Amino acid sequence: MGIDPKTIDWDSLGFNLIETRSMYKATCKKDDSWSPGELIPFGNIELSPAAGVLNYGQGVFEGMKAYRTLKNRIVLFRPEMNAKRISMSTKRLCIPEMDEELFLKAAIEIVKDNVDYIPPYGKGSLYLRPVVWGTGPVLGVKPADEYTFIIFASPVGPYFKGNIKPLHLKVTHNFHRAAPKGIGNAKAIGNYSASLYPSSLAKKTGFDEVIYLNAGNEQLIEEVGSANMFIVKDNVLKTPRLAGSILPGVTRDSVLTLAKEKLDIEVQETDVLLDEVCSADEVFCTGTAVVVTPVGKITSEDGEHSINDGKIGIITHELRSLLLGIQREECEDTLNWLHPID
Ligand code: COI
Repeated sequence: MGIDPKTIDWDSLGFNLIETRSMYKATCKKDDSWSPGELIPFGNIELSPAAGVLNYGQGVFEGMKAYRTLKNRIVLFRPEMNAKRISMSTKRLCIPEMDEELFLKAAIEIVKDNVDYIPPYGKGSLYLRPVVWGTGPVLGVKPADEYTFIIFASPVGPYFKGNIKPLHLKVTHNFHRAAPKGIGNAKAIGNYSASLYPSSLAKKTGFDEVIYLNAGNEQLIEEVGSANMFIVKDNVLKTPRLAGSILPGVTRDSVLTLAKEKLDIEVQETDVLLDEVCSADEVFCTGTAVVVTPVGKITSEDGEHSINDGKIGIITHELRSLLLGIQREECEDTLNWLHPID
């Protein structure tokens, strides 16, 4: 049913689940289209042990945030981008394609019904977690006969402890995150289970996260943990191009746009070599959860590389401030990225 929002300590939010009042649920049969769902109290759900998602990982998700802004409004940030991406992800996982209108309606209803769980201005956000799962029972490897769409929510603060303390990353030469023609570009749950073991090994040895290399060419970098990766060298901003295994991040797209339009710097979506990363002027990663997080040190097979003396770089800082400034309505939303909820 959710905890009493009055008991939440807004100053100590991290990225952990705090149960809220309600969640949105809709269902759909295979080869059918999504019908309208409803808000129900947050709580456990019942599933067959043979559910497609439990046995064959037939599931996708999204992550999006609602903010309480300086103007005392509630806004969602570019929710239509998440709607488009989940429709692409569902198609790739052989799930009935998510109806973008239903997705947006559900996101708005969840925000409205859980408005008292949105942290005060400047203290965090309400993270929405839409999921779509194959919930019908299967035995042979095939798409389930029935699907469930849920959006639940949780107030969140920074993803990494220390917030914008630059990360120390480990390049993994032992694991890949996704194959070039696999499901790396979909927000499929299996991509995240694949990252748990490499990430836990790295964390046990003192690193914050892992840098994955391209499965087809190990000279190229892919992503950091669950986030997109950027480098700055000689005032040019570079990030791996969307060549199949890279997630088309909403924050990735926003940062590319802000760099071009507001900072007037050259941006390149291209192949990014590990060597370039280790000798970059600035390195950072992006995602809804991590926002823009600087990288201060990278350990690879050839040793440790300090980035910008372990400090957050000027361009990284500017991009982070621009993005948060728009999300919190501290500056004008000239790109029309905010979706106010009344
Ligand atoms: C997000 O940034 O929303 C993500 O998908 C990361 C999440 C797995 C924590």
